[in-house]
Amino acid sequence: MQDSTLKQSDTENLNLNVTIAGVKWKNPITTASGTFSAKESSAFYDLSKLGAVTTKGVSNVPWTGNPTPRIAETYGGMLNAVGLQNPGVESFITEEIPYIRQYETNLIANVAGHTLEEYCHTVKRLEDTDVDMLEINISCPNVKEGGIGFGTNAKMAAEVTKKVRGITKKPVIIKLTPNVTNISEIAKAVEAEGADAISLINTLLGMRIDVRRAKTVLANRTGGLSGPAIKPIAIRMVYEVRKVVSIPIIGLGGIMNGEDVAEFLMAGANAVAIGTAALIRPTAPIEILEELKNYMREMGYHSIKEIQNAFCD
Ligand SMILES: Cc1cc2nc3c(=O)[nH]c(=O)nc-3n(C[C@H](O)[C@H](O)[C@H](O)COP(=O)(O)O)c2cc1C
Repeated sequence: MQDSTLKQSDTENLNLNVTIAGVKWKNPITTASGTFSAKESSAFYDLSKLGAVTTKGVSNVPWTGNPTPRIAETYGGMLNAVGLQNPGVESFITEEIPYIRQYETNLIANVAGHTLEEYCHTVKRLEDTDVDMLEINISCPNVKEGGIGFGTNAKMAAEVTKKVRGITKKPVIIKLTPNVTNISEIAKAVEAEGADAISLINTLLGMRIDVRRAKTVLANRTGGLSGPAIKPIAIRMVYEVRKVVSIPIIGLGGIMNGEDVAEFLMAGANAVAIGTAALIRPTAPIEILEELKNYMREMGYHSIKEIQNAFCD
């Protein structure tokens, strides 16, 4: 009896607000791009409960993605080679934005491109829409550079950030790929060119072989590894990047529960995104939010800042 009274009063004291690049979120939880569909998820829970929703990568024109099979299970995660299949920015504007706008949450549009021009086209088309923030996925293969990812090279990462920053008034989040040797160098380069926030990590390049068929499991041969298996790598990268940039960080990679969120906050994240967990269980983002609140009550934390400040390096 006494316990539940105490919990109730603690609930009222919890402050989960965060501000990311000038945009206020009611809590630090968003969805990870490509692992969330607003229409499908809203059948399971009220999207207004989330701090923000991040949509699947959108490109200038529709992309068909890679041939199937393009999803495979792995220990502690999954491999995907969906290839950024999407219906293009015009469909995004007429179908996706109005649907999400029914809910009281921030809308982050994730943008993909094979060339600087493709990124710019999509960013310009989104300028006069209700999108609150742009997340630029710089893992995309740069066709002009023979398919090397924009985000694997500090110069190219800086270039795409500069271009995009120059053509939009919306806050720009640059989403980094972990498939690099020096994540700090890339993070510093994008901050220097005006990124308002950074999100990390995207998937790690992986591969599986079906030894009964003696063939690769994915038609594309390689794919992106996500899920709990990559969490320690993501935590290390958030920690390293926090040391070298002062802009907000949205941390992601294998978050499965509320304590995983706390771990990212202590490593230096200001907000987090839930990806593969939501593919396993669509309600994961709001369950994880409830678990975060329980963790805060149990630990006596009242704000997100308090969790971040508790970490003694
Ligand atoms: C099926 C699938 C599709 C994805 N599509 C995108 C995408 O369109 N844009 C993007 O920036 N990241 C995409 N990602 C990467 C996720 O947003 C996230 O960075 C990654 O999965 C790590 O988080 P997680 O371990 O919580 O899933 C995708 C991931 C998966 C599994």
